[in-house]
Amino acid sequence: MKIHFTLAGAPAVAGLATAGLLAGGITEKAAEPVTLTDAYSNYFLVGVAINQKQIDGEDQRGDPIIKAQFDSITPENALKWDATQPTPDGYNFTEADRYVEFGEKHHMTIVGHTLVWHNQTPGWVFQDKNGRPLSGTNAADRALLLARMRDHIHTVVGRYKGRIKIWDVVNEALNPNGTLRKSSWEKIIGPDYIEKAFQYAHEADPDAILRYNDFSLEDEPKQSAAIALMKKLLGEGVPVTAIGLQDHDQMKWPSAEREDETISAFAKLGLKVMITELDVNVLGGRRTAEVSEMASQGRANTYANGLPPDLERALAQRYADLFSVFIKHHNDISLVTLWGVTDADSWLNWRGQNYPLLFDREGKPKPAFYSVIKAAGEP
Ligand code: G3I
Repeated sequence: MKIHFTLAGAPAVAGLATAGLLAGGITEKAAEPVTLTDAYSNYFLVGVAINQKQIDGEDQRGDPIIKAQFDSITPENALKWDATQPTPDGYNFTEADRYVEFGEKHHMTIVGHTLVWHNQTPGWVFQDKNGRPLSGTNAADRALLLARMRDHIHTVVGRYKGRIKIWDVVNEALNPNGTLRKSSWEKIIGPDYIEKAFQYAHEADPDAILRYNDFSLEDEPKQSAAIALMKKLLGEGVPVTAIGLQDHDQMKWPSAEREDETISAFAKLGLKVMITELDVNVLGGRRTAEVSEMASQGRANTYANGLPPDLERALAQRYADLFSVFIKHHNDISLVTLWGVTDADSWLNWRGQNYPLLFDREGKPKPAFYSVIKAAGEP
């Protein structure tokens, strides 16, 4: 018997309506709507990145979906350094407190994103009190920046001790060629800024899961460099306990096979593997220059009127393939987080109207949503 799924609070999609009729005309009660969190309850948590409007309950379209479909949240921006410590004079936890309260109110596993990153870190962090840029050749500057990092991590992680269960401690520290990114952290402190960050986070909350988070870890030589970095940290007793594969994917990259190999490679290190920022860009890897040229010619919105059916089906198949790999690795993976609730919320719209997630701009489930639910049901 064909079982159909309806979405909590959303109308059944044509053809997916629950047929109540069994042979012999006995009517059966409509099947309970199956949610992502229900469908994956035997495998891993399913999370979502949420923006400030959603945290503040001002998103009529997104909020019901977040509460019904997900059992973990990640702050898209509310816990970044520029939000929690915009100036050297103090901290601002207004947005972050609301984020954690939202998660607790809805019994979600709360993720903290992110403590040490080259982006969204205010300029004052890397200057002395007179505005002089700190330098890597000056021991006092190294000590000053380490003290600022330690104070920030102890204050932010300490504030949500026991409430935020998972932290992205260091984000995107590697270049595509596998070398360490020459960020201000690396230039002023040196490569051991990574160890220090994990040490400080563990001091602030010894029970928190501490993640190294990065993108394109399916690619070489970046993957081998990340594995070498994790082995070095683990070898030195640095308290890193999880690896975050961001998975900002394309329609064909990474292949399901490559994703499978990548998860195995990191799981072998004894680290928990998490998919942390999943989306599938249907517009392909357009470079910034190309986007602005297309935008200037009014061509950026290739699919202004929605995805053509064949691409919608291809996206559904793409998501089913990725989730089938995640299911295969459910003993290695404890969380899969989507980077946004609906297509309208996605950061990827800067490249032109994009369709990278499971819910459309009206908040309705896309074929990709149903293929992900279906993938969970398949043996
Ligand atoms: O809050 C200000 C607002 O006051 C101002 O009016 C507005 C106009 O400029 O900007 C707002 O800040 C924006 C912020 O998002 C909040 O919306 C920043 O300009 C914008 O750069 C920032 O974009 C975020 C981006 O990280 C920054 O690098 C995206 O929302 C967020 O999805 C994206 O997420 C990153 C992950 O943290 C790490 N991995 C890659 C991922 C995608 O880039």
